[in-house]
Formats: sequence, C-alpha cells, structure tokens
Amino acid sequence: MKKTAILVGVVFFLTVTVSGAWLFSPLDQLAQTAKAQGYLDYTPDEAITLAYERCATCHDVEKVLLYCSRCGPPFIVTIHFMKKYIDLANLDGNHVTPLTDAEIVAITQVWNGLIGNWESDWRVQDMTKLLGNDQALIELLNTPPEERRIEVALAGKFAPGSYKEQIQ
Ligand code: HEC
Repeated sequence: MKKTAILVGVVFFLTVTVSGAWLFSPLDQLAQTAKAQGYLDYTPDEAITLAYERCATCHDVEKVLLYCSRCGPPFIVTIHFMKKYIDLANLDGNHVTPLTDAEIVAITQVWNGLIGNWESDWRVQDMTKLLGNDQALIELLNTPPEERRIEVALAGKFAPGSYKEQIQ
C-alpha cells in the first residue's frame, strides 16, 4: 500500500516536471512573441531586460547610460534613429533583429525612466517631424509621461552608471 502510494507520487512528480519543461519553453516563447507584437504588456522588469539586451548589440550600453539632455534629442527621437541604424546595418549584411513597435515603445519608456526624459525641453512639432511616420512613437509622444505605464513605474529609479545616478 505504502509502496503504491510512493510509486503514484513519483509518477505524478515526473509527469508534472516533464510536461512542465515540455510546455514551458514553447509557451514562454509564445508569450515573448505576443509581447513583441503588442498583444501582451511587458512588465517593467521585462522591459528593462529587453532594453539592456537590444541597445547593446551595436555599441556598449554605456553609450545609452551616458546620454543626457545636453547630448542631443530626447530618447524618443534618438531611439527612432536607432531603427534606421538597424536597417542600415542589415543592408550592410549584418543580422540585427529589427525592433517591433511594442518593443520600441517599451524600451523608450525604460530609458526615459531610468536615465531621463527631456521631451518637455523640446517642441512637440520638432519631435513629431523627426519621428517621420513612426506612428507608434508619435502615439507615445502624445501620451503624457504620467500615463505611460512603464515610465511611471521606473520614474524613481535610475540606471547604475547613468547621468541620473550621478546627479542624485
Ligand atoms: C544597428 C545598431 C544599433 C542598435 C541596435 C542601437 N544603436 Fe544606438 N547607435 C548606433 C550608431 C551607428 C550610432 C551613432 C554612431 C555612434 O555614436 O557610435 C548610435 C548612437 C547612439 C547614441 C548616441 C547618440 C548621440 O547623438 O550621441 C545613443 C544615445 C544610442 N545610440 C542609444 C541607443 C539605444 C537606446 C538603443 C536601443 C533601442 C540603441 N542605441 C541601439 C547603432 C545602434
């Protein structure tokens, strides 16, 4: 009786573990794709991971961390230009994964939150012009920062090694 119970327990444990491992990775991948396509929201932590990953493929992440209001246009514009650099790099035979709209919107909020958002120093018309036909970022630009979910969550935080950290 006891042996049967143990056996049932072992079989149950193995079934759960194996099916978990088998199911988890495709499900996880599916969730990642759904987020990249904007069907599911990124959590702030996921967005941070994504930003550090994708913004350090062509140059060090220090380039992002040391960027500041005196350095150039706000992140929303700079990041739009990174999409162009990705296209150019790929025309040149590289294989940089393009950024989807949902990814770029999440990443922009991460750097705005962790480093700084100086969109208010700029004229909306100028930024809109620089954004060209990037509807996703234009929509973000027209969303007040206090209504941007990820940016709000990160407002009190700062990235280690960033300008915002040094002025705190
Ligand atoms: C396709 C490669 C590529 C990717 C991916 C990329 N960048 Fe860049 N980035 C460049 C190039 C090229 C420059 C300009 C030349 C330079 O300064 O090295 C640059 C420059 C910058 C600068 C400095 C701009 C300035 O005016 O001083 C910042 C800030 C920056 N990138 C942020 C980012 C962020 C944020 C991401 C993630 C969304 C990112 N980059 C992803 C290629 C890339």
